[in-house]
Amino acid sequence: MQPDISVKHLNKIYEDGFQALKDVNLEIYPGEIFALLGPNGAGKTTMISIICGIVNKSNGEVTAAGHDIVKNYRKAREAIGLVPQELNTDSFETVWDAVSFSRGLFGKAPKPAHIEKVLKDLSLWDKRNNRIMSLSGGMKRRVMIAKALSHEPRILFLDEPTAGVDVELRRDMWEMVRKLRENGTTIILTTHYIEEAEEMADRIGVIRQGQIILVEDKDTLMSKLGKKELRLQLQHKLDKVPGELTLEPIELSEDGYELIYTFDSQQQQAGVARLLRTLGDLGIEYRDLQTRESSLEEIFVGLVHE
Ligand SMILES: Nc1ncnc2c1ncn2[C@@H]1O[C@H](COP(=O)(O)OP(=O)(O)O)[C@@H](O)[C@H]1O
Ligand SMILES: [Mg+2]
Repeated sequence: MQPDISVKHLNKIYEDGFQALKDVNLEIYPGEIFALLGPNGAGKTTMISIICGIVNKSNGEVTAAGHDIVKNYRKAREAIGLVPQELNTDSFETVWDAVSFSRGLFGKAPKPAHIEKVLKDLSLWDKRNNRIMSLSGGMKRRVMIAKALSHEPRILFLDEPTAGVDVELRRDMWEMVRKLRENGTTIILTTHYIEEAEEMADRIGVIRQGQIILVEDKDTLMSKLGKKELRLQLQHKLDKVPGELTLEPIELSEDGYELIYTFDSQQQQAGVARLLRTLGDLGIEYRDLQTRESSLEEIFVGLVHE
């Protein structure tokens, strides 16, 4: 299958001499949801901006929908919808006008039925005659997505789509991404939340300091790296982990007031239930408990040690 996005030996050195991308190689296939996961400053926005023709590459080869992004800029750009990380929405225009105009920018004939569908899918239909600048932040973000979909691109880029959005919009966004996938749209999203990659992606690429350090199927990656942690704050100090629990991956904090249990996301229920039951049987009381997923940093540390 021909990839929808192909990146070969891509480098980016900004004017100030900073190298933001180092020999990046990546292929993304039609209909995939690909999550580019990495901490702030890793180079995610730089990479997307290059593919979308907003930032110039220093060297390397990039194609979108089979078109070279430099030699065949218009064709490549037409295949792409981009929802940028920074919202740019201080507009006097109405939602309807802005989204329709956006379609026109790609040289596509008007298609009100499509604009209507996009606005309805994004719960923007009631707001179609409102000026964008009067909308809430969440609604503005929906408008940005509608604009990106206005010209029916086969590839959609979402740069940190849920950074700083409320729970409802996040859920809607995930729902929307799934619907788009059903239509065969290829989706590339960037995130620094591992939960988001876990929730949505088919494949995950991890980028750090301008280098792609790993590309893997989500399921494979999660089973390798998706550890969770359960912390129990004890009512009474323990001197050591009780014998009944030593078969479990469990540790006692230095002060003796906290039990820390590490488990795989996959087999969580059984292990946690067993642990809590054993504690109950032993009469060990706890004041509070929290679960925590392994952070990206920990995963990076894990990768570096591998
Ligand atoms: N125009 C620029 N000039 C110089 N350095 C830049 C520029 N834009 C981004 N950078 C630097 O490139 C690195 C990657 O940035 P970016 O691609 O925005 O990362 P991410 O989106 O993963 O947070 C950062 O260290 C950032 O400071
Ligand atoms: Mg960014």
